Amino acid sequence: MKKYTALALGIMIASGSAIANSKLVIAHRGASGYLPEHTLAAKSAAYFMGADYIEQDVVMTRDNKLVVLHDHYLDRVTDVAEKYPERFRMENGKKRWFAIDFDLAEIQGLSMTEGFNVSSEKFSKESAQAIFPERFPLWKSSFRVHTLEEEIELIQGMNKSTGHDVGIYPEIKAPWFHRHEGKDISKAVLEVLKKYGYTKKTDKVYLQCFDPNETQRIARQLMPAIGMDLKLVQLMAETSWNETMVYTRGKPSPYSYDWMFQPGAMAEIAKYADGIGPWKPFLVDSSSTKDHLIITPMISEAKKAGLEVHPYTFRADKGRIPTYADNFEGMLDIFFNKVGVDGVFTDFPDKAVEFVKQSEGKANKKS
Ligand code: G3P
Ligand code: CA
Repeated sequence: MKKYTALALGIMIASGSAIANSKLVIAHRGASGYLPEHTLAAKSAAYFMGADYIEQDVVMTRDNKLVVLHDHYLDRVTDVAEKYPERFRMENGKKRWFAIDFDLAEIQGLSMTEGFNVSSEKFSKESAQAIFPERFPLWKSSFRVHTLEEEIELIQGMNKSTGHDVGIYPEIKAPWFHRHEGKDISKAVLEVLKKYGYTKKTDKVYLQCFDPNETQRIARQLMPAIGMDLKLVQLMAETSWNETMVYTRGKPSPYSYDWMFQPGAMAEIAKYADGIGPWKPFLVDSSSTKDHLIITPMISEAKKAGLEVHPYTFRADKGRIPTYADNFEGMLDIFFNKVGVDGVFTDFPDKAVEFVKQSEGKANKKS
């Protein structure tokens, strides 16, 4: 992991940081700890668990429709490999079924399930191995991929029927890939957001993206051109994840995120974004222990630059709690109350909402 070198180590509690909002609970792919990620069922569950924002990862289909899927391929959460065995591309020696090669009607004819891996070369539902074996069982009940518009209508519909005001948190997935394929996904997402009334920073939406070139393009070109000014969140990754690629003479190479871990980076990001979405270890070093918490300077630099900080991903599954925390609530306590983050992406919004209620209750009693 890249990190601030000379400054990094030692306990640094982010004192005096100006936290803009109360603690936000962002339902990561919906209530994905309980129901298959990015299904409307997972979104409804998150809504009624009291999440402040519900996340949508967005990719584009061959017929230019926006669908809610974490990957720009379909084979980790659907039976596409069984229904369309020949419609794959090879990527890094692996068969992949890209959403961009299918029309919406074809995609909506697929069965959708929990995330899985397939160990054998040939797909079968029986050989699929759940990534989280203790979560919702594979291939049970009936789920399908839905569009961004369907999900916004669901959330806005529930806002109307309940009187609540839950926000949306769309992520533009792999814009570099979509644009290489001739599709301007960011422009299409902005048009949908505008159609549904999300146009300004005070609206209940954060728009997020891992690709810094694209986040800057959204801030400086696309939004001004169509009269929009939304809150933008720059997601952060390690270069080695190949999360963002750059094409030079048609050949992709990884975008280097290294600059984001240097002093001064947060001030640079603040020139075009309102917040950052860091991986948890970018804020709390993984070598931390229960007795010695190592908080990197990223949070204080981000706060100094006026950025909100929403780290990912808070999971309560067995084996997913960092060794420096006792349990899920202990991990939230560290991030909210010691690091000073403004919100968390979590697969377990019910637990995070309960934690926030309890901790705000305690704070009120003290004051
Ligand atoms: O967008 C925040 C968080 O969701 C980033 O991780 O890979 O789950 O989209 P990912
Ligand atoms: Ca995401």
